[in-house]
Amino acid sequence: MSFYRSVIGPILFQFDAEFAHGLAIAALKLRGARSPVADDPALRSELWGLAFPNPVGMAAGFDKNADVVDGLFGLGFGFVEAGTITPRPQAGNPKPRMFRLIEDEGVINRLGFNGAGLERAREQLAARVGRSGIVGANVGKNRDSTDEVADYVKGIEVLAPLAQYVVVNVSSPNTPGLRDLQRKDRLIELLNAVVAARDAAAGTRRPPLLVKVAPDLDETQIGDIAEAALATKIDGLIATNTTIERPDSLSAAAKGETGGLSGKPLFGLATRILGEFYKATNGKLPLIGVGGILSGADAYAKIKAGASLVQLYSGMVYRGPGMIEEIKRDLVLRLKADGFRSIREAVGAAHR
Ligand code: FNR
Repeated sequence: MSFYRSVIGPILFQFDAEFAHGLAIAALKLRGARSPVADDPALRSELWGLAFPNPVGMAAGFDKNADVVDGLFGLGFGFVEAGTITPRPQAGNPKPRMFRLIEDEGVINRLGFNGAGLERAREQLAARVGRSGIVGANVGKNRDSTDEVADYVKGIEVLAPLAQYVVVNVSSPNTPGLRDLQRKDRLIELLNAVVAARDAAAGTRRPPLLVKVAPDLDETQIGDIAEAALATKIDGLIATNTTIERPDSLSAAAKGETGGLSGKPLFGLATRILGEFYKATNGKLPLIGVGGILSGADAYAKIKAGASLVQLYSGMVYRGPGMIEEIKRDLVLRLKADGFRSIREAVGAAHR
């Protein structure tokens, strides 16, 4: 068992989950930028003109303000998504608002887009322009916003020139009404506006624009979102955010907390929804698979279900930062065992 699982994890578990997250951010600030271990060439992929050294990314929510992006690259991530960033700073919901489901290896959070706002994220990303590493900027709206579309447009305008890709988050369950933006008519209106903002702000560089979706969608909703994505010519989807479902399998006391569930109990649902989006878009739209990845086998299953890249967050709570190198090593072995020379060859293999 790793030093994290036997020693560090159990110590961190003595603290409130959000406090432990603060310790992790502080440790990454101290650690600063360190060059990670070079990745196996089989893990490299080129997508949207960007060269990803490996397909394992840090999911949004860990580094809300883009404070520790370089520290995260030092852990071996192939890309890092900062955010969700709202135009104005906001405190989020009352604490406690983040809960570990230890027996289930899950997390429930109802943070509600706590963050330092757009100006701070702009400063942080501007300060690292010219450094290597693919950084995504994930944007959202303020809870009390009166013009939702304008909030997203503002985020894209400011961050598209500074990030390698941008994400429109319409799938957090912790901002009332946010997920309604996934409805076809409203989604098309929003996506047309943010695509125009991206094109105007970033000029010819045009960083890819992705939409992050919920796992709590039926077949019709998936079809509608896929159509909207293709019609508005966005560049990809991230599937999925946390779920408001509570599977029967849960046993931890915190399972009754309100919020979005992530980690192991989300894996099956998120991977199924990912696969449905792959089918609904005929494999034509790059997908990032996220939700419940704790091992190389999990990451590989997402890739075979249709993910060109993967992300994780909750797994780190239970497996620690060493899991990134472990997942990458395991992915190389699994690709070789199946006769694939690259990640790209394995994408969507489950559907063939
Ligand atoms: C998240 N997630 C998230 N997603 C997002 O788009 N914006 C956000 O601000 C946050 N915030 C956030 C906070 C916390 C504490 C957690 C656990 C998660 C969702 C996250 O990016 C991811 O989609 C899900 O957690 C599923 O992946 P994992 O955690 O099961 O690997």
